[in-house]
Amino acid sequence: MIDVVAVVGNPRPGGRTTRVAQAVAARVAALGSGEVETIELADHAARMFDPSDPALGEVTTRVAGADVAVLASPTYKASFTGLLKAFLDRYTGDGLAGVVAVPVMLGGSPAHSLAPDTQLRPVLVELGAVVPTRSVYVVDTEMDRLEETLDRWWSGAEAVLRGCSVSLPPPMKILVTGGAGFVGSHTVVELLEAGHEVTILDDFSNSERSVVDRIGRITGKRPAVVEGDIRNPSALDSAVAGGYDAVFHFAARKSVAESVEEPLLYYQVNVTGTVNLLDAMSRHGVRTIVFSSSCTVYGDPQELPVTEDHPFGPAANPYGRTKQMMEHALMDLAAADPSWRIASLRYFNPVGAHPSGLIGEDPRGVPDNLMPYVTRVAAGRLPELRIFGNDYPTPDGTGVRDYVHVVDLARGHLAALDYVVGSSGYHAWNLGTGQGSSVLELVETFQRVTGRTVPYRFAPRRPGDVAATWADPSKAERELGWKAKHDLADMCRDAWRWESSR
Ligand code: UFG
Repeated sequence: MIDVVAVVGNPRPGGRTTRVAQAVAARVAALGSGEVETIELADHAARMFDPSDPALGEVTTRVAGADVAVLASPTYKASFTGLLKAFLDRYTGDGLAGVVAVPVMLGGSPAHSLAPDTQLRPVLVELGAVVPTRSVYVVDTEMDRLEETLDRWWSGAEAVLRGCSVSLPPPMKILVTGGAGFVGSHTVVELLEAGHEVTILDDFSNSERSVVDRIGRITGKRPAVVEGDIRNPSALDSAVAGGYDAVFHFAARKSVAESVEEPLLYYQVNVTGTVNLLDAMSRHGVRTIVFSSSCTVYGDPQELPVTEDHPFGPAANPYGRTKQMMEHALMDLAAADPSWRIASLRYFNPVGAHPSGLIGEDPRGVPDNLMPYVTRVAAGRLPELRIFGNDYPTPDGTGVRDYVHVVDLARGHLAALDYVVGSSGYHAWNLGTGQGSSVLELVETFQRVTGRTVPYRFAPRRPGDVAATWADPSKAERELGWKAKHDLADMCRDAWRWESSR
């Protein structure tokens, strides 16, 4: 006898999620001619994730009397991860031979059905460590083919009763160019933590080799490394030949001032290097790319907040021009061959560092950008900050930007990957918080949360700077389920932890 209890989170009573859960539970119960009991948590939708909820206590008692629990919930709005966490909080380890986890994807939108995978994977791993777990992913638009889906899944599902390990969608094999750099290294951490296999391609021209060890210390997994320059087509060709599912392309030069002095370097690395990469990808049949773009493509914004529909403005410098050129190249590529899956991510101002203090932004020489300059002044490595302009038409006269925590930004890349896996073509998203902060606000927040003093003086405007820019990030939230979680105080705290731990 195998008695099965199906716990259904956030359903419409008797709706699709319940039907899926019961179909799965019936198959498991039929293995041992057991009974199925269904508990719908519809009434508790709003509070079901509060571990002290008495309704969950009752569920726990009934689960403990069963042999197998089927946990089903839509993935939308993290409902499913909430159900698992509530279960994990209360499960005492008694009785159950196994759990069948049934994330029900809202198939109407590939974004909603796929994006949560990034969040689901670690929770499923956690669950699998507590009780033998098997998962079956069901897309609600495929309800008429439900039995077919269950047939495919069923071949391995009996193992749940024999203590199988957790079953997850297969991890992807990903090449990360510039993976030792600032945004690249944080993205590698998130990819590894989500279970993907990562190879870094980097020439270490603006990063340290020790970053790779540090990534290993954070994640417990050391990524593979290929040392190479993207300007060299044959090095790229052999690097891309490793049978990758996708490429994350960070390798680029990014200093505005340097691009004015050495424009050819920018065209060689950013343009030729990217074309070489796309060419190698094409030859080796890799057609999924997540590209590091910048809000610089919009030029001086005509309207705030900036949406993805804002036209590309005249670029203020060669660096900005290379980012625009590469976005055009990617659009042309997607138009010529619709099998390409391209995510172009337009970063606003990435700052902060990993909360471990092990990786962060480490520009060589005197920093151009505000946050690394501020942390070095606070550490006494530079005497004072110059604030470029206090006569802008902004509330306090200093420049306004949309600072975004690098860990949030890194997670945006995984959400974008999930999206393009389910939807080919060219897609662009702004990654920012939607919140503008002035230079003075950033300096004051930094001083408040770190207790350090940052001496500054006002200096003339920096040529090429815009007065204010910030993102409308709602497209990323709508389509990717991504939203920045960290505020300016978190960014300052983490940037300082990184600076002061070195
Ligand atoms: N700033 C100072 N003092 C400094 C450094 C910066 O006052 O020592 C001010 C700037 O004038 C600006 C703000 O701080 O108002 C932010 O400057 P950053 O250099 O940190 O960032 P930017 O917004 O100028 O640059 C960013 C990216 C570029 C990108 C550009 C597009 O770093 O890659 O946005 O707008 F091209």
